[in-house]
Amino acid sequence: MIFANRYFPATRLRRMRKDEFSRRLMRENVLTTNDLIYPVFVLEGENREQAVSSMPGVTRQSLDKLLYTAEEALKLGIPMLSIFPVIETGKNNEATEAYNPDGLVPTVVRELKSRFPELGLMTDVALDPYTIHGQDGLIDDAGYVLNDETTAILVKQALCHAEAGADMVGPSDMMDGRIGAIREALEEEGFIHTKIFAYSAKYASSFYGPFRDAVGSAGNLGKADKYSYQMDPANLDEAIQEVAMDLEEGADIIMVKPGMPYLDVIRRVKDTFRVPTYAYQVSGEYAMLKAAAQNGWLNEEKCMLESLLAFKRAGADGILTYFALDAARLLKA
Ligand code: PBG
Repeated sequence: MIFANRYFPATRLRRMRKDEFSRRLMRENVLTTNDLIYPVFVLEGENREQAVSSMPGVTRQSLDKLLYTAEEALKLGIPMLSIFPVIETGKNNEATEAYNPDGLVPTVVRELKSRFPELGLMTDVALDPYTIHGQDGLIDDAGYVLNDETTAILVKQALCHAEAGADMVGPSDMMDGRIGAIREALEEEGFIHTKIFAYSAKYASSFYGPFRDAVGSAGNLGKADKYSYQMDPANLDEAIQEVAMDLEEGADIIMVKPGMPYLDVIRRVKDTFRVPTYAYQVSGEYAMLKAAAQNGWLNEEKCMLESLLAFKRAGADGILTYFALDAARLLKA
């Protein structure tokens, strides 16, 4: 607009940005504690706690120590924990420990559910902690991960977790048809309320490195990769097809993983299906932010909250994040 030879912008977006109250009034997305799932690493035995060096602030804990963590998460209002076991005894090529009713995960689930019944518990359904080679499934002589043979074991594992009281099972293995097979078995066995949290669009990402250190599968996996079952980071249409299949087969929540480099996938999935959609801010993303913060290069609190809010803006209903406790403390303050 030209007025007396001077130019005035008709719209001054900065008017609404100037004050805290008006910024609050026009804020489009919010992060709350309800949006957070906290992943934890559990160890066999008692009175054990180990730092994970590539994930500063994250530890592996035996059940007795994990009880305090769970209590804190519950008090902070975090709706659910996701349990990842560190298996030291009983690994074999058939992954039989994955469905041992007295194994680490069922034991932890029973104890946590009896102490904190209102805290949601999700278990990871995949064989990598239980196999000697560190792949998520059974392999043939050429090292190829067998789909249907693996799915049969995943079904046993999911049932074993449901029997122990898991509220949600989270297949993170990427076998074809596993959601349908698990759903059918749960229904047949009467676990009609057990939810399936499907890792649907799970990419073959190098950002999982620190996680593999944490659960101790990195050494077992060696130079092998997971390209024959996890998705190619180049693909987006394929993610839509994966999500469509998992929903058709009975998934209750679907996941995109990793998180920050894949916000476009979250947006496309959410816009396409309009179903509960979660993001996994994975170990490597956590490690990057932590390392930069430790060097004084980034403000940890601000970057953490900004990264989590960005998931909401991208369309995620919530985030699995190793920052869950820290974020919940800040949101409460
Ligand atoms: C394996 C599994 C992985 C993660 C969760 N479940 C690693 C992998 O696929 O090799 C990674 C999570 C993270 O990096 O935080 N079933």
